[in-house]
Amino acid sequence: MTNSFRTLDDVDVRGKRVLLRVDLNVPMEQGRVTDTTRLERVAPTITEIADKGGKAILLAHFGRPKGPDPKNSLRPVAAELAKVLGKPVAFADDCVGEPAQQAITAMKDGDILCLENTRFHKEEEKNDPEFVAELAKLGDIWVNDAFSAAHRAHVSTEGLGHKLPGYAGRTMQAELEALNKALEAPTKPVIAVIGGAKVSTKIDLLENLVSKVDALVIGGGMANTFLHAQGINVGKSLAEKDLAATALRIMEKAEAANCAIILPVDATVAFHFAANAPSQAYGLDAIPAEGMILDVGPQSVERVHSAIDDAATLVWNGPLGAFELTPFDHGTVVAAKHAAARTKTGKLVSVAGGGDTVAALNQAGVAGDFTYVSTAGGAFLEWMEGKPLPGVEVLRAK
Ligand code: 3PG
Ligand code: MG
Repeated sequence: MTNSFRTLDDVDVRGKRVLLRVDLNVPMEQGRVTDTTRLERVAPTITEIADKGGKAILLAHFGRPKGPDPKNSLRPVAAELAKVLGKPVAFADDCVGEPAQQAITAMKDGDILCLENTRFHKEEEKNDPEFVAELAKLGDIWVNDAFSAAHRAHVSTEGLGHKLPGYAGRTMQAELEALNKALEAPTKPVIAVIGGAKVSTKIDLLENLVSKVDALVIGGGMANTFLHAQGINVGKSLAEKDLAATALRIMEKAEAANCAIILPVDATVAFHFAANAPSQAYGLDAIPAEGMILDVGPQSVERVHSAIDDAATLVWNGPLGAFELTPFDHGTVVAAKHAAARTKTGKLVSVAGGGDTVAALNQAGVAGDFTYVSTAGGAFLEWMEGKPLPGVEVLRAK
């Protein structure tokens, strides 16, 4: 798959104005960046372009502003990025017009410039052709290194690729290679571990996965909906009872596709949704009417371990229990550690991504031991749903 994408290997950036789309949408509190992971991810591409004598002109969004808003300025993020890069990063107060033009004219080969939040212009999210033309004037080529924003067909993530020669940056390239190994052309058997609270947000994802993987582990609140659909009493547990028919349809589809669905066989139950609430493991035939399933039980964890042992490739999205509350992170943490250990021995290719997943793996202390951990939220989910991502499609070599 990745062979069909143009990358930085296909272009000489020396002396060129490179419009480089990065994802600088980092968490920030009181004007300070609280997690620099995304900045570290894009650093290699920026450094490579600068070191090769290109002019790296960064395009990015920050938050979801409705027009210009100082709260959503990229200025403090650019300052933090400069620290990560160990190089100066100039800043322009607008991504088009005089401020951008002047800042770019002042650049020397190898310089780095960050332009202000592209979403300060409403045309960005509309993929407006005139705004494409205005931005395109500022560059010679477009490099997209923002996989995590590739589910958006915006001017900076997609539109520019129709106007300028487009290339995947190194982070985008690594992401596409990892995803290719995970679902497009994986070593079989493939297992998916899917958790999280709700089936309703992951119907498309589950339906796509059952036709692609050999085994599907379902955990988290989602599993309760499946258990309920099979007639199991889940007490006061979170469950979307109106989705029972959907759950059964997914199970039928899995059976027809020869995909084993692995549901919990026991449960850790508490009577309050709170950290350290007294809890106990119960068999599925004995969940107390007043009880809440907050994690998979010990036998279920064993089951997940042996399913992981049978697999050559693992795709993971979502925690298996209420991992934000100790000790109900237990199932997620031990299963993640098991997958990490298998990966280290070279027996497993493990790819994880999506919202809470990275936080859960960090909590387990194993994010660095997975083959690849995506920082993408929505884009990772849409990829798992089998949907084409506009920011990726536009990079395909024609
Ligand atoms: C993200 O943070 O998930 C990406 O940067 C996309 O942001 P968005 O959901 O506001 O488009
Ligand atoms: Mg998002």
